[in-house]
Amino acid sequence: MAFVAETARRPGHTHVLLITTGSVASIKAPLIVKELLSYHNVLVEVVASKPSLAFYSKSDIEKAGTRVWTDEDEWTGTFKIGDPILHIELRRWADIVLVAPCSANTLSKIAHGTCDNLVTSLMRALSPATPTYIFPAMNTLMYEHPLTAEHLRIVKEVVGYTIVGPVGKHLACGDVGVGAMTEWRDIVQIVVDQLRLTKTSQPNPQ
Ligand SMILES: Cc1cc2nc3c(=O)[nH]c(=O)nc-3n(C[C@H](O)[C@H](O)[C@H](O)COP(=O)(O)O)c2cc1C
Repeated sequence: MAFVAETARRPGHTHVLLITTGSVASIKAPLIVKELLSYHNVLVEVVASKPSLAFYSKSDIEKAGTRVWTDEDEWTGTFKIGDPILHIELRRWADIVLVAPCSANTLSKIAHGTCDNLVTSLMRALSPATPTYIFPAMNTLMYEHPLTAEHLRIVKEVVGYTIVGPVGKHLACGDVGVGAMTEWRDIVQIVVDQLRLTKTSQPNPQ
């Protein structure tokens, strides 16, 4: 199924792109999607790295009201000049981008400009004008690794994205410390505040 931003965008709507990566906190993706879709005129598309789909399923996202794009959708096997290119169409579509959660690996790739999958190709092709929020989530020692501070600095100061979190709590790996993703409701609230969204009584049909 081809995705073309021009036809997928709806006038008067807010287009939220949620990117999930291989952190346990990806388990929260269906909750984030469902809550975002409870706001007026909001559309959500989800892009998943392969590891992130260990933590939720495409059907969880479909039940929440939208769909998931993966590397297989980018590389369908054949390409003709004029065909839409998924990572470009998705970045054209997005009014706001959330990388929630952002794994240590994807954080490193963004900081270095690596673009070897749908997630990072899309990030590399984003317009600097698109508000982009990174929500790191990783084991405490991964977070405290000296390279993480450097990657966060580059992503913030050179690339210009907003970093939110991580927060301290009992992590899924059993460690207690900083590394958990910002609470999913707070992630939704950032979008609500930034784009002045209002609650709807009816879920948005996508
Ligand atoms: C069960 C499990 C949980 C993991 N949790 C995390 C995590 O919370 N944060 C993180 O940065 N990496 C975590 N990893 C490692 C990443 O999944 C791994 O680095 C992967 O290559 C990330 O790929 P991606 O950034 O393309 O999604 C976990 C791996 C496994 C097997």
